Amino acid sequence: MSFDPARVRAEFPLLADPPGGRLHYLDSAATAQVPQAVLDAMAAHDTRARANVDRGVYRLAEAASAAYAGARARVARYLGADPGEVVFTSGTTAAINLVAQSFGRSLKPGDEILLTQAEHHSNLVPWQMLREARGLRLKFIPVADDGRLDLGALDSLVGPRCRLIALGQCSNVTGAVADVARVAAAARAVGAKLLLDGAQGAPRGPQDMKALGCDFYAFSGHKCFGPTGVGVLWAKREILESMPPVWGGGGMIRSVALEGFTPAPAPERFEAGTPPIAQAVGLAAALDWIAALDLPAAHAHEAALTARALSRLPAVPGLRIVGPTEGDNRIGVVSFDLRGVHTHDVAQALDSRGVAVRGGHHCAQPLMDRFGFMGVTRASFAPYNTTDDVDALLAAVAEAARIFG
Ligand code: ALA
Repeated sequence: MSFDPARVRAEFPLLADPPGGRLHYLDSAATAQVPQAVLDAMAAHDTRARANVDRGVYRLAEAASAAYAGARARVARYLGADPGEVVFTSGTTAAINLVAQSFGRSLKPGDEILLTQAEHHSNLVPWQMLREARGLRLKFIPVADDGRLDLGALDSLVGPRCRLIALGQCSNVTGAVADVARVAAAARAVGAKLLLDGAQGAPRGPQDMKALGCDFYAFSGHKCFGPTGVGVLWAKREILESMPPVWGGGGMIRSVALEGFTPAPAPERFEAGTPPIAQAVGLAAALDWIAALDLPAAHAHEAALTARALSRLPAVPGLRIVGPTEGDNRIGVVSFDLRGVHTHDVAQALDSRGVAVRGGHHCAQPLMDRFGFMGVTRASFAPYNTTDDVDALLAAVAEAARIFG
């Protein structure tokens, strides 16, 4: 049976009946839309099981606690992991900051962290802050002209003081998928930990932490067709257990006296305060929704949309693609510069034709510097997008080039 994006689209209320009429939503890399099944799961939780978790003993509180624990178990299943290794956070950014502020305390002056020139600010600024606090050294894997990581110098960048390699599984700007296996081998060779920013990778389907060979994996709910305000840090159990808590408060302690406290075991130790309960339930429903897709067909569909955009956009005068223009190892993210036209003008011109894309630096200013742009315009595809969306993009970009050219 062939993949039918129209059927997928029909599951998304906002896309089925877009506010303002026409909408070609091509900004799923920023925030994906939410299917009815996820909205229903969250509404069912709030109308049938809403209470605080792991505190009350009445039946409603126990139902809420069970729903929250169930959500953790379903997230763990999506990652091929143990529920005890799953920490709920507010998103990818909070997950990476948690690693920086907790695991980071074990790092010593002169220790090195290897990042890449393509990182989202979420996987750069926390390490810059840690560098200042702990006297660390940051090194960077460069980006090649085609937007892929240039791993030629990897072995020379990973020295004996390297303690952590942290990189995006897939770039939110170029769409390039990192050669994680190669980086994981380099990390293993010197005993460094590997953190993957999975914000753009997790939405593509269930991930296998063992197969990826990472020690930390961070992702967000809202890019996975789930709610905002929830995300996940996965870490290997022995690492998580060795990490100190960062935020203090209710829920993260075993006992407290005026003199001090004993923290709860992981993962609760990292979840101070009331957690994002309904959001966790929504995230679990969203991951179940992704896992139930015909993923090979969904990926082939996304690749076809991407190939259509990549092959036709360059016909627009003055347009330059930023990122790999061919090859399998890329996701459905297509960024481009339209010579002489500010990316916000491009995005607004596209919006006037109902095409929603993101313009700007995409929280990746060092990558913009690498290519000499202040910003680029980005279209990103999800299983609910259609050939019609791509053609609307192509027509709107051609028109913008005519108007501003
Ligand atoms: N990280 C999100 C993006 O790439 C917001 O648009």
